[in-house]
Amino acid sequence: MTKISPSTNPISENELVNYALELQSLGADYLHCDVMDGVFVEAKCLNAEKIKEINLNSLIQLDVHLMMVTPIKQLKSYIKARPNIITLHLESFKKPETLLECLVKIKKAKILCGLSIKPNTPLELIYPYLPMLDLVLIMSVEPGQSGQKFIESTLNRIKTLSNHITKNNFNIIIEVDGGINKDNVKQVVESGANMVVMGSAMANCKNRKELIDYVRSL
Ligand code: DX5
Ligand code: ZN
Repeated sequence: MTKISPSTNPISENELVNYALELQSLGADYLHCDVMDGVFVEAKCLNAEKIKEINLNSLIQLDVHLMMVTPIKQLKSYIKARPNIITLHLESFKKPETLLECLVKIKKAKILCGLSIKPNTPLELIYPYLPMLDLVLIMSVEPGQSGQKFIESTLNRIKTLSNHITKNNFNIIIEVDGGINKDNVKQVVESGANMVVMGSAMANCKNRKELIDYVRSL
């Protein structure tokens, strides 16, 4: 079964609690909460307060994707919002020690910890952190906005990571984010993803239940 994590990004912030409730009733596994700080990427959206509000008003599991330059400074507030997953970006860190410090903080709070990698960052740079991780988030577009086209070469990156994880007996979720829709999701899953994000494809879908059921059947 593939897990589906529709993203907050195309939805306006005052509609997010309702969106979370709708997705929860339709059986989506997670709500993917895209946090952008206006520096790591140009756009600015979502914050720990809003995530806390969604969490207090719904039961859906929250999968937080932090696109920010200094996650160490704000991590505490995101931990306090009690999401189920917190994913950091490898590219946010100049020093591996700071990244490790953040991973330890997330793990100590008993929240699943993820690490995300942008399309042009060599995949191997994530390998040293795998023993610490519950999840790797492979970006299939440049982070920053919804509605972009899926980068095809991501399929090979998913396969390579999946083989590496199997070979080393790690128990790590492979999540993929960006440009995924009904037409390409099967290929993404067949390449080795076990969790997929859908932003615009879910937001614009007329029959969300059917799309959720389809992804979860893969
Ligand atoms: C991009 C975000 C994605 C985005 C996905 O920076 O991390 O989660 O919202 O949206 P789609 O599925 O439309 O590419
Ligand atoms: Zn995302």
